[in-house]
Amino acid sequence: MILLDNVTKIYPKDSEPALDNVSLHVDPNEFLFIVGQSGAGKSTLLKMLTKEENPSSGKIIVGGIDLDYVKKRHIPHYRRRLGVVFQDNKLLPSRTVYENVAFALEIAGMSNKEINRTVPKVLDLVGLLDKAHKFPSNLSGGEIQRVGIARSVARQPKILIADEPTANLDPVTTKEIIDLLKRINDFGTTVLVTTHNDGIVNYLQKRVVTLDHGKIISDQKGKGVYRLEKEDPKNKRKTMPKVDKRPLHATKTKTPPKKKIIRTI
Ligand SMILES: Nc1ncnc2c1ncn2[C@@H]1O[C@H](COP(=O)(O)OP(=O)(O)OP(=O)(O)O)[C@@H](O)[C@H]1O
Ligand SMILES: [Mg+2]
Repeated sequence: MILLDNVTKIYPKDSEPALDNVSLHVDPNEFLFIVGQSGAGKSTLLKMLTKEENPSSGKIIVGGIDLDYVKKRHIPHYRRRLGVVFQDNKLLPSRTVYENVAFALEIAGMSNKEINRTVPKVLDLVGLLDKAHKFPSNLSGGEIQRVGIARSVARQPKILIADEPTANLDPVTTKEIIDLLKRINDFGTTVLVTTHNDGIVNYLQKRVVTLDHGKIISDQKGKGVYRLEKEDPKNKRKTMPKVDKRPLHATKTKTPPKKKIIRTI
């Protein structure tokens, strides 16, 4: 479904590559977490798939399409095959939940009849049928995120890409969103999610790809867990294991030296 072959991305003016010889194969219907420290290259990897950015070298094939051959003017058409969920989903403020989803389908060229049939179905899927006529300003963060997901999956894309979809959400809402993504995956959509949230990664136990400085340093194919050090932006060193600086021979003596018995005559 998705193939990256030796993909390297160096942004202009950057000395270090954001992606460094990344090769990855994702099967249809997989659920894949992409994790890594800030700046590891997670968003860049997703941008390669949405063609927001082009690789400096390497090959990318998505759903049988070689992205080298997708011309600039065909990018919007190509993107319609993907569902994309962002961290801060921008909804149209003057349109209701229903209209926000309907508008996305209208742009995609769906007929009115089809739109009227599809929108209630997806709103039901994301649990927002009763909020269909609310405006974005009257929704919670989790509800806004769910409208974003509804909009992305309404066209039934084969692939759903979500860049930190649960950032800024409380733990309960985070779990709801993740359960929703899992349900969408169960219906047959390949789902790629980047996250810093170790809890959701360990909860779902799906495939986990870990990036570090643009390289894949681990690919747990099933029952993956979050293996990074806990991040502490204020003081990363705090979380590093303490290093014993004594010379090696000094650390080896586990049994205390025998006390010398000094005899006095
Ligand atoms: N448009 C850009 N121009 C130049 N450098 C960029 C650009 N976008 C990202 N980078 C650099 O590429 C590297 C990877 O960035 P990327 O956004 O992919 O990281 P990330 O893993 O998504 O991080 P985060 O967890 O903070 O979202 C970083 O060093 C970043 O500074
Ligand atoms: Mg990112």
